[in-house]
Amino acid sequence: CGIVGYVSRTTDGTALDVVMEGLARLEYRGYDSAGVALVTPDGVATEKRAGKLENLRSALAAHPMAPAATGIGHTRWATHGGPTDGNAHPHLGGREDRLALIHNGIIENFHALKKELLADGAEFRSETDTEVAAQIVGREYDRTGDLTEAMRAAVARLEGAFTLLAVHADQPGVVVGARRNSPLVVGVGDEANYLGSDVAAFIGHTRHAVELGQDQIVTITPDGYEVVGFDGQPAQGKAYEVTWDASAAEKGGYDTFMEKEIHEQPHAVADTLLGRTKDDGELVLDELRISEERLRDIDRITVVACGTAAYAGTVAKYAIEHWTRIPVEVSLAHEFRYCDPIVDERTLVVSISQSGETMDTLMAVKHATELGALTLSICNTHGSTIPRESDAVLYTHAGPEIAVASTKAFLAQITACYVLGLYLAQLRGETYADDAKSVMTELRDMPDKVEELLGRMDRVVEMARFMADSRAILFLGRNVGFPVALEGALKLKELAYIHAEGFAAGELKHGPIALIEPGQPVFVVVPGPDTPHELHKKVVSNIQEIRARGARTIVIAHDGDEDVVPFASEVIRIPQCSPMLAPLLAVVPLQVFALHLASAKGLDVDQPRNLAKSVTVE
Ligand code: G6P
Repeated sequence: CGIVGYVSRTTDGTALDVVMEGLARLEYRGYDSAGVALVTPDGVATEKRAGKLENLRSALAAHPMAPAATGIGHTRWATHGGPTDGNAHPHLGGREDRLALIHNGIIENFHALKKELLADGAEFRSETDTEVAAQIVGREYDRTGDLTEAMRAAVARLEGAFTLLAVHADQPGVVVGARRNSPLVVGVGDEANYLGSDVAAFIGHTRHAVELGQDQIVTITPDGYEVVGFDGQPAQGKAYEVTWDASAAEKGGYDTFMEKEIHEQPHAVADTLLGRTKDDGELVLDELRISEERLRDIDRITVVACGTAAYAGTVAKYAIEHWTRIPVEVSLAHEFRYCDPIVDERTLVVSISQSGETMDTLMAVKHATELGALTLSICNTHGSTIPRESDAVLYTHAGPEIAVASTKAFLAQITACYVLGLYLAQLRGETYADDAKSVMTELRDMPDKVEELLGRMDRVVEMARFMADSRAILFLGRNVGFPVALEGALKLKELAYIHAEGFAAGELKHGPIALIEPGQPVFVVVPGPDTPHELHKKVVSNIQEIRARGARTIVIAHDGDEDVVPFASEVIRIPQCSPMLAPLLAVVPLQVFALHLASAKGLDVDQPRNLAKSVTVE
């Protein structure tokens, strides 16, 4: 979910505009309902609607709210209670409903708390866990007469993960926030202060941000902000400057954020490499803050991640094992956490997360720390929770990714994994470093190759349009092409709601080949002709096998690879590169295909149904 809070000194009633602007920028975090609450002289005024932010906007146009200087807003990804007007946030509590509260996360003990409240005569107007929190904070306010105190008393009773924001009609000019295992940042302005799930909430107004720690409560007023721990002890946030501006979070002439982000991929790769190599190809990663001795001592790597990030991790497995001979395992974070993993102090647990907030991944990192592992976060969001909970961080520099389906962050994650693998190879000495050095040099040419490839997408766009009615599409790949196939299928499921599956091409004959019938479209990611172990030849044979059974074969092959031509219904060309780096190119046509197929079906590409960009619940 996305959360915004705002207080200002001005009395011209800007709160609603600022909160709505913040919600628009946070909508990618959840978009099945939205709501706002303003503090007015007559009490707390709220408006909330199921559906996209647009529905709330129409409701506000139909029933304008009185101007106010203090407000909160929420855009929801439903957990407890379906996406209805009634379940949308804010929820009210306290005497005469004078308190409004919004929430991101899950309050795990809400059943027990609700029972208590019901026994005490409380009435509920929604099915949410949030309303329980609203009633508790409301009652605590009635008891203490102070919103910060009320919040502190309330959080002591809550279990689970949450960010809460509350306003009270008797304390205009105050918004109080609390966070446990869920994101919240302060934005510091001149005449106003802000709270947001991430800096996008207030980036149109200030770049001065303050990161909050775990289990902290923050009170913002027009004059400043104050932080205390859940224990009431004064605490300090960590101030930082946001390096990107509002225009980076806008569409910049493209129809959709996803299209813009696909076109930003050359930069995402280049910026992720920036400052990390010397001219002779040697890598410098002082930023890691882990001693070389400790890194040399690593005898096993486990990657934990979810969704697209986990596929970046699978590319990393092939690459890092090849360059370093360190065994690498890839574990879906939610499986890792509960599978009794084998991890010790010589294990490096690498988490990959665009948002740095994915709860499954965060829990995996915490578990790894408990088991004594060294943890390293590959992350795209400064100041987010996962890097803070990790021993070290390697930031990807893809810039803000707004479209729910990940594209440029994926390329940046793969790039960061290469950098990590090559760095480990360098640390481990000559045996491994030779191959690594030449790859490092080649890596620097990849942004240009991605750029060139993006200029060749006309045929892919055309194909996406005439294939919009497809019922199912399959994707095949081997070695590093396998995670590319999985990602191609995921993009299509996420965006176009088409049944799509990715397979290791060698596995085809062990079952999936039964799915092939005349006309079945199959994308095949073909390794470069110089891939070791004659893999190229083997994939060409796989293409023949399915072609013979009537499949429509759409082949992604390197420039100059003529072997595929006789068996391909379509060939999509990518520039030549060494085998390990090919995912940075091969995935691009698959992203473009999914984007344009979904657009041809008239679907919302940036905000596909049922999804959210950062899933902050387990
Ligand atoms: C959600 C998104 C996916 C994303 C995954 C991991 O499920 O819908 O697109 O790949 O989370 O997100 P992260 O922020 O951890 O990379």
